Amino acid sequence: EANERESMYLVSEFAQKHFEKMLWETELGKAIGLSYFKERGFTQETIQKFGLGYCLDEWDGFTKTALDKGYKLNYLEKTGLTIVKENPQNPNDPRKFDRFKGRVMFPIHSMSGRVLGFGGRILKTDKKAAKYQNSPESDIYHKSKVLYGIYYAKQAIAKEDNCFLVEGYTDVIQFVQRGIENVVSSSGTALTSEQIRLINRLTKNITVLFDGDAAGLRASLRGIDLILEQGMNVKVCTFPEGEDPDSFAKNNELEEIQQYLKENSKDFIQFKAHILAKESANDPIKRAETVRDIVQSISKIPDGIKREIYVQECAGIMNVSESVLFSTLAQMGKKDR
Ligand code: CTP
Ligand code: MN
Ligand code: MN
Ligand code: MN
Ligand code: MN
Repeated sequence: EANERESMYLVSEFAQKHFEKMLWETELGKAIGLSYFKERGFTQETIQKFGLGYCLDEWDGFTKTALDKGYKLNYLEKTGLTIVKENPQNPNDPRKFDRFKGRVMFPIHSMSGRVLGFGGRILKTDKKAAKYQNSPESDIYHKSKVLYGIYYAKQAIAKEDNCFLVEGYTDVIQFVQRGIENVVSSSGTALTSEQIRLINRLTKNITVLFDGDAAGLRASLRGIDLILEQGMNVKVCTFPEGEDPDSFAKNNELEEIQQYLKENSKDFIQFKAHILAKESANDPIKRAETVRDIVQSISKIPDGIKREIYVQECAGIMNVSESVLFSTLAQMGKKDR
C-alpha cells in the first residue's frame, strides 16, 4: 500500500541521516566508524557523497531515537531496522534491537535517490557474525531489483555508454573515488534479470568486474547469459587472484586502472574460451564441452546478425568449423526467435 511504503521510505531516510550523524558527530563514531572508512582509503568527500554512516554499538540506540522522534515501531520493524522480539515478562512491551548495532553503514538508494535499505559491515571480521548484514526483503527493498550505486552512476553510464558491474559496495565506492563513475554493484547476490534491466535502460554495454576468486569467476559465467538474453553486449575483466575492484583501485592510479581494464576486458567468447579451455587445452572432450558452452551462450542472443558474427569468432578461436557451430546452434532450439 502506497501510504505504508511512504512511511517506510521516511523512516529509512531518517535512519540514513541518523547513522551519518553518529559517524561524524559522536566520539565513538569518529574513533571507530570514521577511522575505519579512512583506513580503507575513503576521503571525507567520498564518505559524504555515499552517505555512509555508523550504527553505535548499543542494543537499541537508534530504535529509541526513532521512536522518540515519532516514527512508528511498525515501520521500523517492516524495514528491518529494528528487530522486535516477544518479551516473556510483558507481552505489551516487546524487546527491540537495532539490526545494525556496531556496524558501518552503506545506504542503498533507488534510481531516483530514495533510501531503500542498508548494508552494514562488521568491523572485525574475526567474529562469527556475517561480514555484511543487509536489510531484509520488504515492500520497499527487493534485493533482486536493486543495484547499489545506480543513483550516482546513472548519468555516467549513459554518457560512457558502458556500465561496470562489480560485486560489492566498496568496489563501487573506490572506483567512483578514483574517477570511474559508471559502476554499480549487484551486492553479492546472484545477478538477476531485473538488475540487468535497470542497466539496459541506460546502456547496452556491460563489463563484468567480479572478484579474482572462484566465486567471482562462477558469478561472471552465470551473469553472461542473462545479459546476452536481453540483447546486451557483455565483456568480462578478471582481477588477479585475491584482488577485487576495491583493492585494485586502492593500489593503483586512475591511468593504471583504465589501462588494466582496457587490456584485460574480453568479450564473452574470449573469456569463456580462456577460462574453460585453460585446463583442457589437450583434452578433446573438454574442448568440445567448451565449444558447446560458448554456443549455448550465443544461442541466447536475440539478434541473428550478432549470432552469426559470434559464431565466426568462436570458430576462429576454438578452431572448429562454422558449419558445425551453426548446426549445433540450430539444435539448441531457437524456434521461438
Ligand atoms: N555480501 C553480503 N553478505 C556477506 C558477504 C558479502 O551481503 N556476508 C555482499 C556485500 O554486498 C558485499 C558483496 O557481497 O559487498 C561482495 O562480497 P565480498 O567480496 O565478500 O565483500 P567486499 O565487497 O569485498 O567487502 P570488503 O572489502 O568490505 O571485505
Ligand atoms: Mn515493491
Ligand atoms: Mn568475493
Ligand atoms: Mn570483494
Ligand atoms: Mn573487498
